[in-house]
Amino acid sequence: MAHGLQIRDEESGYNKNLFCVPKHYEEDLERVFIPHGLILDRTERLARDIMQDMGSHHIVALCVLKGGYKFFADLLDHIKALNQNGDKSVPITVDFVRIKSYCNDSPTEKISIVGEELSTLNGKNVLVVEDVIETGRTMKALLSKLKDNKPKMVKVVSLLVKRTHQSPGYRPDYIGFEIPDKFVVGYALDYNEYFRDLNHICILKEKAKEKYRI
Ligand code: IMP
Ligand code: MG
Repeated sequence: MAHGLQIRDEESGYNKNLFCVPKHYEEDLERVFIPHGLILDRTERLARDIMQDMGSHHIVALCVLKGGYKFFADLLDHIKALNQNGDKSVPITVDFVRIKSYCNDSPTEKISIVGEELSTLNGKNVLVVEDVIETGRTMKALLSKLKDNKPKMVKVVSLLVKRTHQSPGYRPDYIGFEIPDKFVVGYALDYNEYFRDLNHICILKEKAKEKYRI
């Protein structure tokens, strides 16, 4: 079973004043939880593990928007580096789906999936790239839609997996970090569309949740 880098429940992260964060968010952030550099280092290793398993056939990398876009771009850069410098290489093509399942810091009842003609995935080796898995509800909905298009193989990589009591136990094939059940933002993860333009994964102040609530 896949394991990510474990971040303990007691972990409080880092003083944000020791890092660079955008001025417009300074008042909103409580702590830096996962610094950008650590995300990139872990992503480099995920790229290697993925290529070891999937690197003998053409891969279709499917980005789950919007939250997955930073992780997707950085993961693909590392995979491209392996393709360029290793003794074997495979073509990578990209596809995108957009899923919305959250409003404020809570899940919405309806999961909306919009995007490409997924029939292009027929017969392909697909790597789904997601930002965070909490209950697994979103990923299960996407996977069942993908299965209708009969891909040859589907693997899922998620940058984050939350340890939550409500989790029905869905686990992706590759995991960046396993984190406590906290709401996090940054590195393309949002709170009502804000904080995607922040490099580090951070914890919000309660008053910021009020400020950006809709
Ligand atoms: P699940 O369906 O419960 O697994 O939730 C997964 C989806 O909820 C992710 O794709 C995110 O879009 C969103 N989400 C869950 N937790 C967070 C978080 O801490 N920050 C930002 N988005 C989150
Ligand atoms: Mg997501």
